[in-house]
Amino acid sequence: MHANPYIVGNWKMNGTRAMLAEARAIDRAAARYPAVQVALAPPFTLIHAMADEVSAIGVGGQDCHAQPKGAHTGDISAAMLLDCGADFVIVGHSERRKDHGESDAEIKAKAEAALAAGLGVIVCVGETLEQRDAGKAEKVVGAQVDGSLPSAEAIAELAPGKVSVAYEPVWAIGTGRVAEVADVIAMHAAIRLRIEAAYGERADGVRILYGGSVNAENASGLLEAEGVGGALVGGASLTAESFVAIIAAAGAERD
Ligand code: PGA
Repeated sequence: MHANPYIVGNWKMNGTRAMLAEARAIDRAAARYPAVQVALAPPFTLIHAMADEVSAIGVGGQDCHAQPKGAHTGDISAAMLLDCGADFVIVGHSERRKDHGESDAEIKAKAEAALAAGLGVIVCVGETLEQRDAGKAEKVVGAQVDGSLPSAEAIAELAPGKVSVAYEPVWAIGTGRVAEVADVIAMHAAIRLRIEAAYGERADGVRILYGGSVNAENASGLLEAEGVGGALVGGASLTAESFVAIIAAAGAERD
């Protein structure tokens, strides 16, 4: 079990102001588990209001542009996220890789822009079912790690914990089909080796989160698995009831 697990809720394209009540309840509960780092990534439209209302949890964006400003209609920069109260951003989620055709190089540029602006960053990687069935999962994810993580220079001066990697097998996202714990352990170990090769000793400060159909029932088993530093949670982060159960699972035996 990781000493300081990171439990992040990704609300995706869900939530209007009425859902701030859930964030407040999650915030109150998170305060009871000081060893667990908790955060929510709501849609851009809720970041400002949510950041104003919470104190125990982090608030972040689900994407940012690699440029600080300019003619990019519909995009949001890392500096803008910081300005409205965000402290981190998720980049390279498989839904963005697929829906917006984002490449590893673009994701790396976004991650480096986020760090330069002062945000923490969660870089997502994960294979499709087709790739897993073809025995290519480690190769695909390894290439994503090599191609989309910020450079060693970009992290050289940062405090530990600013960069996380989320391993999210695409076939486990929103499907209710969670990866086998043994497969999660194997992939996290493979990702760790790549991070060590890239960052040397500074790799110790990088947590590797698991994501894909994490819920109150399976959270303990996943969070206890070797090499799992936390969870990136979609559907089960939308209500305080289900998300707090995951936070409690992460906090069990620590507080
Ligand atoms: P899920 O989503 O928990 O709904 O599977 C996880 C994610 O996409 O981050």
